[in-house]
Amino acid sequence: MRLELPEVISSYTMGCSMNDKIINNLSGYNIISFICVTIFSVFIWMNTARSADLENGKLLFEECSGCHGEGGEGIEDLGPRLNGQQPWYLHNQIIKFLAGFRGYNEDDDSGAMMRDAATMLESEQDIIDVIGYISTLELMAAEPVIEGGDAEVGKEIWLANCTFCHGEDGAGNREISAPRLAGQSDWYLIKQLDAFRNGLRGTHVKDERGQQMQSMSLILSDDQAVLDVSTYIMQIP
Ligand code: HEC
Ligand code: HEC
Repeated sequence: MRLELPEVISSYTMGCSMNDKIINNLSGYNIISFICVTIFSVFIWMNTARSADLENGKLLFEECSGCHGEGGEGIEDLGPRLNGQQPWYLHNQIIKFLAGFRGYNEDDDSGAMMRDAATMLESEQDIIDVIGYISTLELMAAEPVIEGGDAEVGKEIWLANCTFCHGEDGAGNREISAPRLAGQSDWYLIKQLDAFRNGLRGTHVKDERGQQMQSMSLILSDDQAVLDVSTYIMQIP
């Protein structure tokens, strides 16, 4: 299985435009330019898509399933549902845990738990393998566990504030790193929205996308608004 991972692509595209500048400065040295471009093209090609070793991914996932469920369906108040989530988002978040952009706050016990767990992935290849395996898991709708949310009110909040980035159907938007939300467990949506609102997530200086979501979360004025919008998101077909 080959996975397209956007940050890998963008980091090398950046490298390429830097290389263009170098090449422009070398006007006249056409052979050098040609070699430069060829080497860079091969380099980009090697890095834009990588193959996942699903056997290794399956082995690694045995450790993850203790908190995320055997089918990646999530375990209430422990690990979120992972099946159905886009590979690029899983990749982004694992990197954020490893880099300390997420799970760094001393009051964020749940984030710290995952930060520890992420260290069992010892290489970029391990990360790709385990995500490759997660991508093969069957989609399983999560069951609602939280009561008291008003899905009608939640829908209004959603349409007015969230669809611009997450899409009306909650499928996410890869261009701006906004994840899929539709079908995610209500308890986890609430937990993350609270983490953003309380500044436990999305406040690291280098976490630009997290910061965007952190400021959006402040639109949700009280706990009831969080409950309502989460109740609706979970039900998006
Ligand atoms: C000890 C329990 C535990 C283990 C083991 C564990 N996780 Fe997690 N994981 C969590 C928790 C808790 C969270 C939510 C963190 C938070 O609240 O910010 C999480 C979050 C995540 C997220 C972010 C999901 C999202 O929607 O933002 C990803 C991706 C993830 N885990 C992947 C993995 C993978 C892959 C493995 C195995 C290599 C793994 N986890 C092992 C507990 C665990
Ligand atoms: C400006 C774009 C933008 C808007 C508007 C926005 N989000 Fe987000 N959201 C994001 C991004 C980007 C992330 C990923 C943050 C990260 O990388 O940690 C995110 C992450 C999330 C997460 C965490 C999902 C997970 O799996 O951990 C939840 C929940 C969420 N958004 C809900 C909402 C809700 C509810 C609204 C409306 C009130 C909303 N978002 C509006 C961009 C946005």
